[in-house]
Amino acid sequence: MSREPSTDAPPRSRPTARLAPDGVGLTEAARLLRAGRLVAFPTETVYGLGADGRDAHAVAALYAAKGRPAFNPLIAHVEDADRARAEGVFEPLAAALARAFWPGPLTLVVPLAATAATCDLARAGLDTIALRVPAHPVALDLLRRVAGPVVAPSANRSGRVSPTAPAHVIDDLDGRIDAVVDGGPASVGLESTIVACLGGRWRLLRPGGVPRAAIEAVAGLGFACEAQEDSRLLAPGGLASHYAPRAAIRLGALTVEPGEAALLFGGARPAGLDDAAEALDLSPSGDLAEAAANLFGHLRRLDRTGAGSIAVTVVPEHGLGEAINDRLKRAAAPR
Ligand code: TXA
Ligand code: MG
Repeated sequence: MSREPSTDAPPRSRPTARLAPDGVGLTEAARLLRAGRLVAFPTETVYGLGADGRDAHAVAALYAAKGRPAFNPLIAHVEDADRARAEGVFEPLAAALARAFWPGPLTLVVPLAATAATCDLARAGLDTIALRVPAHPVALDLLRRVAGPVVAPSANRSGRVSPTAPAHVIDDLDGRIDAVVDGGPASVGLESTIVACLGGRWRLLRPGGVPRAAIEAVAGLGFACEAQEDSRLLAPGGLASHYAPRAAIRLGALTVEPGEAALLFGGARPAGLDDAAEALDLSPSGDLAEAAANLFGHLRRLDRTGAGSIAVTVVPEHGLGEAINDRLKRAAAPR
C-alpha cells in the first residue's frame, strides 16, 4: 500500500522502462499493453499514454496514472480504417474524412458499432467513440502488434502541458507507468483535430493538427453542418483550464516585464525583451507548422526557468494558428 501523503496518485512502485522503437522494443511494448500495463508511445501529434482499450482494469489504471477525471472519454487508436469500422459506424461524411486524413492528426467521433471491443469505461459510458489512425510509423507498428484498440490520452499528468518528447513523458509519469517507447520528437506537436460525425451532421469539437479549412474542404461538398455552440458538452476535454504550466500565462503581450519569461512568434521583439528571464521564439520565420511543433516544448522550457509568468506575443489565427491559440488560451485560463 502507498505511504505517500498524496491521494491522487498510485504509488511510485515500478521503474518506467525506456524501449527502443525497434522490433525488440515494440514486441515488449505490445506484450505489456496486452497484459494490461501502461505504455507511452509516440504519435505524430503528441506522445500518448496507451492502455488496451478492451481491458477496463487497464483503463482504470490509466485514469489513475494521469490523475484524469473519469468522465473524460479517451481516443481509441487503431492501425487502419478496417479496425476503425469494427469500433465505430461510419456515415458517408465520416468515411470521406477518414479517407482524406488517415493516417493523420484527425480524430472522428462516431456512433459505437455493435462489434466494438473498446470498453465502456474508456468511452465514459457514451454510445459514441472517438477513433484515430495515427501517422507515426512506430505507433502503427505497435498498433498492428496489439491488434486491438489502444486508448491513449496525451501522456502527461492531467491538466499539464502535453508531451512532445520522451523526456516530457518521464518528467510527468516516471514510476507511474510501465514503459515509454522512444520515438524522438513529435512532428506535429499539437493534438489531433476532433470532428464529430453523428446523425448526418458534423461539428468540429477541438481544433488541432488538421486545420479547420481542410476539414471544410471535404465536408463542404453536400454534407450537413451543425452549429458549434454545444461543442463543449460533446468534448469534455475541451474544458477551460488545461495544458497548464506552473507559470501564469499572459497572452497578446506587447511588453515583457522584468523577470518574466517570453514566448515569441515570428521574430517579435516586444519592449523589455532584454530583461526577460528567458525568451524562445515558436518560429522566427512565422511558420505556423513549426510553431505548433515547438509549442509544448517551449512552454515546458520557459516554465522550468521558475519565472512567475510567461508573456506570449500574438500568434495569427489562420491555419494551425487556431489550434495554437486554443491551447494558449487554455494554458492561460484561471485555475
Ligand atoms: O493527438 C491526439 O489526439 C492525442 C494523441 C495521443 O493521439 N490524444 C489526445 O487525447 O489528445 P486526449 O485524451 O488528451 O483528448 C481526447 C479528447 C478529449 O477532449 C475527449 O473529451 C474527447 O477526445 N473525446 C473522446 N471521446 C469522445 C466522444 N465519444 N465524444 C466526444 N468527445 C470525445
Ligand atoms: Mg490531453
